[in-house]
Amino acid sequence: MPADEVTVVLLAAGKGTRMKSDIPKVLHRLAGQPLVNHALAAADALGAARCVVVVGPDMADVAQAAAPHATVVQERQLGTADAVLAARSELTVADGGSDDATVLVLYADTPMIRVETLSRMLDARRAGAAVVVLGFRPDDSAEYGRLLLDDAGALQAIVEYRDADDSQREVTLCNSGVMAISAASIWGLLERIGNDNAKGEYYLTDIVAEARADGLACAVVEGDAAEVLGVNSRNDLAAAEAVWQRTRRASAMAEGATLIDPETVWFSHDTRIGRDVVIGPSVVFGAGVTVADGAEIKAFCHIEGADIGPGAIVGPFARLRPGARIKARARVGNFVEVKNAVLGEGAKANHLSYVGDAEVGANANIGAGTITCNYDGFLKHRTKIGEGAFIGSNTALVAPVTVGKGALVGAGSTITKNVPDDAVAATRARQTVAEGAAKSYRERKAAEKAARKKEG
Ligand code: UD1
Ligand code: MG
Repeated sequence: MPADEVTVVLLAAGKGTRMKSDIPKVLHRLAGQPLVNHALAAADALGAARCVVVVGPDMADVAQAAAPHATVVQERQLGTADAVLAARSELTVADGGSDDATVLVLYADTPMIRVETLSRMLDARRAGAAVVVLGFRPDDSAEYGRLLLDDAGALQAIVEYRDADDSQREVTLCNSGVMAISAASIWGLLERIGNDNAKGEYYLTDIVAEARADGLACAVVEGDAAEVLGVNSRNDLAAAEAVWQRTRRASAMAEGATLIDPETVWFSHDTRIGRDVVIGPSVVFGAGVTVADGAEIKAFCHIEGADIGPGAIVGPFARLRPGARIKARARVGNFVEVKNAVLGEGAKANHLSYVGDAEVGANANIGAGTITCNYDGFLKHRTKIGEGAFIGSNTALVAPVTVGKGALVGAGSTITKNVPDDAVAATRARQTVAEGAAKSYRERKAAEKAARKKEG
């Protein structure tokens, strides 16, 4: 019995009061991305045909974060079974539809769920279970629902902590909340669920006992405690971030990157790292960064929205902002900021520069302290620097301006007009030299000082 068509129902209607926040819990960020988008990414990676997010009233911003996925509003939070029922009208899987189809229930505040684990749950569906529950064994079972097995080891029921007796509370196998349910059975089973329990809520967990009453098979797939870690407080969020980062560092190294001090490197949800990339200590990746094979990022860099080409060297202490495209073997050195600019192949900006809204040709050399003056207080303008051009130290390039191929700009210039290919441009005042003047100045001043001392 294949479980081919998968529809995800992602529960996100909770207010998350323990976050003590003015924004909904699921919009708090993990690895730079809202929690709700982590679960959606897992659903997408699984190849779910459709994903419906259940939100509470006044959560338009959650709906916006979830787009283009559909959202439904659960008007009152009557429990997890009620939340899944709220998504019913949005589901393509028809009532009493094919038993091959599956409704997969995920929680938006459980962002680290792995696709491999969800696939194992679908395997259990294919093996004949109408309801598959993801169980786990936390260090502290706390107030999780407990999974009760029958003598044959099959899942018999889930009992919520508050409704459990002492012996049931001894059970260490807990409910993560993630469930894969036969689309053919789900609605009929949910409709039978009541709210006669400690919380007066409609518990999704009761679906197991209802399925068993109909003679349907229920199964448990066990997952890792770290991947079902739920985020309910800021402390949980920090703990989840730590786990996420540890996992990502390990995968970067497994895929062939060297992290000199892994614990100090911070990745974003979408960081892409090639082979033989070397990342120094204390490097922080914001969103949208790609690092090609063989590139090196030295210590203390902050990088976001940037493409770093093969063999490029960045840092130490470099800042790459959105739109920075560092081509093959180019170099960005210490205290250099690059924004919305292309640094061509083999080009260098090694010290103390701002390169913004610019195109720098291949093998051009940007001297120390060069600034592209891109903003006139109202609008941004572009600077173009041709292939092989040499920009002397402490140059201000007042955009819009073009420096041609192979041109040379003298140090300390303020360039306001275009410089043709192969030309030399310099705007500084001509130098004067007065031979011996420093010596006579010193002598005169020393004499003045001595005279004043004598006067007392
Ligand atoms: C739930 C499970 C429990 C499990 C635990 C794992 C039930 C009855 N209990 O308990 O067995 O061990 O999760 O973390 O399912 N939500 C809605 N609408 C509602 C109620 C909840 O969208 O009306 C959402 C919440 O936003 C949250 C999720 O469903 O994302 C779980 O709800 P929550 O109230 O946290 O359930 P727990 O008591 O933690
Ligand atoms: Mg919870």
